[in-house]
Amino acid sequence: HVAVLDFGSQYTQLIVRRVRELGFFAKLYAIEEFPDIGQPGAIILSGGPKSTSEPDAPDLDFDALMGFNVPVLGVCYGMQLLNIKFGGSVEASDRREYGPANLVLDEACPLYEGISKSSQVWMSHSDTVKVIPAETKVIARNQHGTPVSLQWKEGVFGIQFHPEVTHSHEGLRILQNFLLQAKELQRFRIDDFKREIIADIKEKVGTKQVVCGVSGGVDSTVLAVLLKEAGANVRAIFVDHGLMRKNEGDEVRANFERMGVPIETVDCSERFLTALSGVDDPEKKRVIIGNLFIDVFWDAVGDAELLAQGTLYPDVIESASNAKSKASKIKTHHNRVDRILELQAEGKVLEPLAELFKDEVRELGTALGIPHDILQRHPFPGPGLAVRCPGEVTEQKLKIIRDCDYIFINQLKEQGWYDKVWQSYACLVPVKTVGVKGDERSYEWAISLRAVISEDAMTADWVELPYSLLREASNRILNDVSGINRVLYDISTKPPASIEWE
Ligand code: XMP
Repeated sequence: HVAVLDFGSQYTQLIVRRVRELGFFAKLYAIEEFPDIGQPGAIILSGGPKSTSEPDAPDLDFDALMGFNVPVLGVCYGMQLLNIKFGGSVEASDRREYGPANLVLDEACPLYEGISKSSQVWMSHSDTVKVIPAETKVIARNQHGTPVSLQWKEGVFGIQFHPEVTHSHEGLRILQNFLLQAKELQRFRIDDFKREIIADIKEKVGTKQVVCGVSGGVDSTVLAVLLKEAGANVRAIFVDHGLMRKNEGDEVRANFERMGVPIETVDCSERFLTALSGVDDPEKKRVIIGNLFIDVFWDAVGDAELLAQGTLYPDVIESASNAKSKASKIKTHHNRVDRILELQAEGKVLEPLAELFKDEVRELGTALGIPHDILQRHPFPGPGLAVRCPGEVTEQKLKIIRDCDYIFINQLKEQGWYDKVWQSYACLVPVKTVGVKGDERSYEWAISLRAVISEDAMTADWVELPYSLLREASNRILNDVSGINRVLYDISTKPPASIEWE
């Protein structure tokens, strides 16, 4: 495998993704895990927010690193650290370099095989290498002549820019060139992965009963089908909190029936609405829903021998790094609660998807024969429509949101846009404005439509949907849904907005 050592850059996860896109298996390790990275075929040192001159700057055992005798690539902080280890130095540059730069290639080097002479790359750093050790080759500079890529010895390279972001136009090719330096690398194939996961589940589960929660979303669906394929004795529980979209409960039940996994529904819409009554603070709403969901779910579970969760790789990394970096809490997500952590400590939690990214889960779903329409469903937040209903949640508002959402989503499906966007929905804007309906004055709420593209929900961009589609959706909403006299289209990127409204 390819070991990616995390020095804390916000792009580290992307390096892992890119390596996998190139068809090789990559794993991310915290620096403290360095002694346990096994026998990697290549090692990548990520960027990071610190400066190598800070007293608590992350460090690693250089002799051990060289002892692997495999190709090494240092990215940004990784390059600066390597330069110091090889006997050079690093200094703070006068200006922070952030954004596009041109790569001016120096000597011919396998890292830049086939790369154009002045390729755009993406920079994000405030330190640069100063003293370059005698034996070291400068293999590329930026347009100002500053060295931005070094080769200290055969197979050991450094790059100041970020090849993993799409703004580095030929970044993927550069990573591929690096990986080609490795003698032997494990290929990443979803079919092999499927077999491994199923064998692993069989071994862990044996004759025990496994409980899993299903929501109809891609992750929990793939999880349930995997368990079924592994011949496990599965209980799939669907908690209907009443914050689902139009007809969603019935669709979920029908889909699971289609795949041969029967589900138990726990209908508790009333309980959720009652608990939410009078509450308008977004965090309070999330906490109430999260806690009640857990109570209801665990009541239904009873004495489980094993619990399976559809946790994905980004969740694992995020919670691990949050624990260390204490990243600021923006929203409460409810899949990492105490009860689950306790069960985990007892070895009673299975997380078979924990090595995979979302698009890989979809691929796995295809390999498992799950129908396309189920796999292409947009992500839906755990707290459901409550986060698309600013202020107090009421049955009346939920009905409006459901009806508008249904019209908008059907438009996207009919016009071939649904599969092209990451997520789309309708959100109520509980502000009354004046309008006119059939010669009468109206004084009603607005609805906001949102469609975004994204890679991992960390950043998102709004989609330039055709005006004709927006016009048709707006017409239908204004004609068919009572309580609404205004339709808006949300053109906010994330950041600074988030994908959901709450
Ligand atoms: P935001 O609104 O933070 O959303 O930009 C990022 C992604 O996460 C989804 N989301 C959630 N998913 N439980 C979930 O399982 C939650 O509490 C939750 N809140 C937001 C959101 O739909 C988007 O895909």
